[in-house]
Amino acid sequence: MIQRLKIALLMGGDSGEYEVSIGSATVVNKYLDAEEFDVYPILMKARNWTYTSPEGTAYSVDKDDFTLTLEQEKVYFDCAFIAIHGTPGEDGKLQGYLDIIGIPYTSCDLTTSAITFNKYFCNDLALQYGMNVAKTIIVRSEFNLDLNGIITEVGLPCFVKPNKSGSSVGVTKVYQSIELLDAVKKAFSEDDEVLIQQFIKGREMACGVYRTNGEVVVLPVTEVISKKDFFDYEAKYTKGMAEEITPANISTSELEDCQSITRELYNKFNCSGVVRFDYFLTEGKWWFLEVNTVPGFSEGSIIPKQVLASGNKLNLFFRQLIIEAISQKSKV
Ligand SMILES: Nc1ncnc2c1ncn2[C@@H]1O[C@H](COP(=O)(O)OP(=O)(O)O)[C@@H](O)[C@H]1O
Ligand SMILES: [Mg+2]
Repeated sequence: MIQRLKIALLMGGDSGEYEVSIGSATVVNKYLDAEEFDVYPILMKARNWTYTSPEGTAYSVDKDDFTLTLEQEKVYFDCAFIAIHGTPGEDGKLQGYLDIIGIPYTSCDLTTSAITFNKYFCNDLALQYGMNVAKTIIVRSEFNLDLNGIITEVGLPCFVKPNKSGSSVGVTKVYQSIELLDAVKKAFSEDDEVLIQQFIKGREMACGVYRTNGEVVVLPVTEVISKKDFFDYEAKYTKGMAEEITPANISTSELEDCQSITRELYNKFNCSGVVRFDYFLTEGKWWFLEVNTVPGFSEGSIIPKQVLASGNKLNLFFRQLIIEAISQKSKV
């Protein structure tokens, strides 16, 4: 009898991306081959980590050893598939926990997750790695802000966003100085640090990348054309509110540049698993926007589209992520 791999499919989490995570996990579950994998979807919300059996019985995860005790068996996991966007799945917290227990997982490690989830630190590193990045000011309190000084520095319009968040939750495009304080307050409702950033004018692009059999594979590039003023939450998750053109209509040399930058950044940031780098293309130059170390996997998301455009299949792709995570861990 072939022993099926036991996969903990982690979903939910503690950010505004909870629902998005459920959508991602549903797709991963659908495409993981039942002949090869026993998948246990585990919903995480703060300290409640719960698996609900097909019969509807809820079981809590034993956090001492990350196991499940079911009626007939105790389940030890071979790998955790992290489908949680935002904290604790994308910022290193879960990675640290799983490292302590010794379970392989599909995402970047603790350090890379923590640094890249912090847009301010990540921007600084991307700048050091030679990327064009938007001028950015970080604020840690909404009080006593020198609003005029900030505007002089970054210009108008500008973007205000939580430093550690995703899915455009709490992001505002600010056109006039009078709007700045409200935008800052809104961003503070998502995080304790807020960025005020120069507006980058250009075409918005995204490029996924992952490792399989030890080789880095760069996916095709996607152009995002939002029907809203920018790629906000509504544009991201409402059908018809954004076009995600894959492969992007760019020249061969622009494509080559983007893919080689993406490969370089994946290596420099020491990434693992599938990661999506977001950019703006402005007059032939690539500007770094951000990196998503747990990108969306729902069927309308960019990564599944890029995987299909690359000629791969989603069941094989998700399998590749798991096999790579297990084989990397066994080398340690
Ligand atoms: N500096 C910027 N210049 C132009 N557009 C931006 C800028 N920052 C953010 N945006 C727009 O806002 C969206 C969300 O911002 P982003 O930094 O990617 O945060 P999130 O992690 O929430 O996706 C981007 O996809 C883009 O459309
Ligand atoms: Mg983004």
